[in-house]
Amino acid sequence: MEILLFLHIVGVVIFFGNIITAAFWKVRADINGTPSFIHQTVKNVMLADIIFTLPGLVLIIVSGILMAIQAGYSLSGFNWLTISLILFVLTGIIWLALLLPLQRKMIHYSFQSIDTGVISKEYKKASRKWANFGIIATLLPIVILYFMISKGI
Ligand code: HEM
Repeated sequence: MEILLFLHIVGVVIFFGNIITAAFWKVRADINGTPSFIHQTVKNVMLADIIFTLPGLVLIIVSGILMAIQAGYSLSGFNWLTISLILFVLTGIIWLALLLPLQRKMIHYSFQSIDTGVISKEYKKASRKWANFGIIATLLPIVILYFMISKGI
């Protein structure tokens, strides 16, 4: 159990570490406003998701399921674990269905903006949506973190 919990926490640290720092660098690039710099940054946000967020999520899911089985926690009814799982799936849907496609759009639009030297309206629109859904996809795991520690409900 200790090694699984250790791997679970490592996954959580990698996951939160990456989503928070990625948002920081992205906001810094948008404030800077240079299309080529923004383009590099949004490409790196995508790369960091593949290198850090994805393995972090795999660690969280595999260790979490194994710990739940070992401890014999109930996966039926309304409890801290089932609520967390629902929120976790919701986060995954937001990430896969909205954030990743928006990141692809931002890479595309920022590349197009390099020629004109001015960041396009399309990029700004995608960036705004990314920020809004990104906030939701960050807050939900924070709620999960609370449930995991409190094991309340
Ligand atoms: C963003 C998502 C998640 C976060 C932030 C998170 C965080 C944590 C943390 C911090 C703990 C340690 C709690 C403690 O020892 O006091 C924990 C334990 C645990 N987590 Fe997660 N977790 C997440 C997702 C999952 C998922 C998807 C599962 C799948 C079943 C899961 C199952 C468990 C289990 C079974 C424990 C052990 C509880 C125990 O017996 O001590 N977690 N989690």
